[in-house]
Amino acid sequence: METTQQSTRILAIETSCDETAAAVIADGTKILSNVVASQIDLHARYGGVFPEVASRRHVEVIHAVVEEAMRQAHLGFDDLDCVAVTRGPGLVGSLLVGVNMAKGLAVSRNLPLLGVNHIEGHIYSLWLAEDAADITFPLVTLVVSGGHTDLYLMTGHGRYQLLGATLDDAAGEAFDKVGRLLGLPYPGGPSIDKAAEHGSPTTFRFPRPLLEKGLDADHDYDFSFSGLKTAVMRQAGQYHSTSAMPVADLAAGFQAAVVETLVEKTAAAAEAFGATAVHVAGGVSANRALRAAMAERLSVPVRVPPPALCTDNAAMIGAAAHFNFIRGRRDALDMDVTPNLQLI
Ligand code: KG4
Ligand code: ZN
Repeated sequence: METTQQSTRILAIETSCDETAAAVIADGTKILSNVVASQIDLHARYGGVFPEVASRRHVEVIHAVVEEAMRQAHLGFDDLDCVAVTRGPGLVGSLLVGVNMAKGLAVSRNLPLLGVNHIEGHIYSLWLAEDAADITFPLVTLVVSGGHTDLYLMTGHGRYQLLGATLDDAAGEAFDKVGRLLGLPYPGGPSIDKAAEHGSPTTFRFPRPLLEKGLDADHDYDFSFSGLKTAVMRQAGQYHSTSAMPVADLAAGFQAAVVETLVEKTAAAAEAFGATAVHVAGGVSANRALRAAMAERLSVPVRVPPPALCTDNAAMIGAAAHFNFIRGRRDALDMDVTPNLQLI
């Protein structure tokens, strides 16, 4: 039996992309502090994350972010059981800042070090929601972010089976690229979510790749969004400028295609594997149309994190760390960053 009762206080650090984040988590489920310094404004002018700029900003603010997380938690370093940090996947220069900070703290404060997979962090963001005590396995978990679109069967803590993934663009990446071509502010995901509110999802019917042909044996649970992005680009190309485009209808039509694909594949997996519930995590799980469609379509409970825990944060890293820590996992001080770290 797993000892999920062990009490822990974990300082977690997350710098895999463009958020510098630190949090203190108690027992894997309670947020004592959760500080996120976003770089969105810094990258907006480039229309995407500029890796070197991201690393530099992490270096500038990491100390202040960690100090603030400790201050808000009203704890001293002696009260901690462990320092956890995202070790991958992510941008190598960004990851290095968090990992080196965590190593420095582990050495100077004599604390165990634990490297956490960023995707596992997103999965564990659901343990920070109010009804975590009700979670039972098996679960089907969809992780939809800027870098990943992965469907997992989770049969216990730390036990995953990858059912399917995107063959090309991640869902969030497609939102960001389509947002750019519709002339919407960066990042595209929240902008399309907002623009689609005033549009019709049926004016333009965009393809539902790997869905329309029916669930075929090879790609039952896989996704593909690059053809959909091209279809939107072709339609948008009919107008001489972004100001002439029916942006709301294009955004709503694109969003409907992504949502339907994500929902139908997740529903099929939940049914096939007898899931007790469906979890949706990652930045795109903040999407309102996706949340509504999941809740409506699924016959088992659907859990999504509160909006602030959908996008990158360190609280989720602390939650994932707890469930690794109580199973005895620790990392050595020579732990390296792993930009392409696989969950399984
Ligand atoms: O998880 P996350 O913060 O970072 C990665 O690990 O990638 O996800 C960021 C992604 C971006 O692509 C962003 O556009 C998307 O999540 N996103 C959304 C929404 N909010 C954030 N996509 C659709 N609708 C939203 N409301
Ligand atoms: Zn993420």
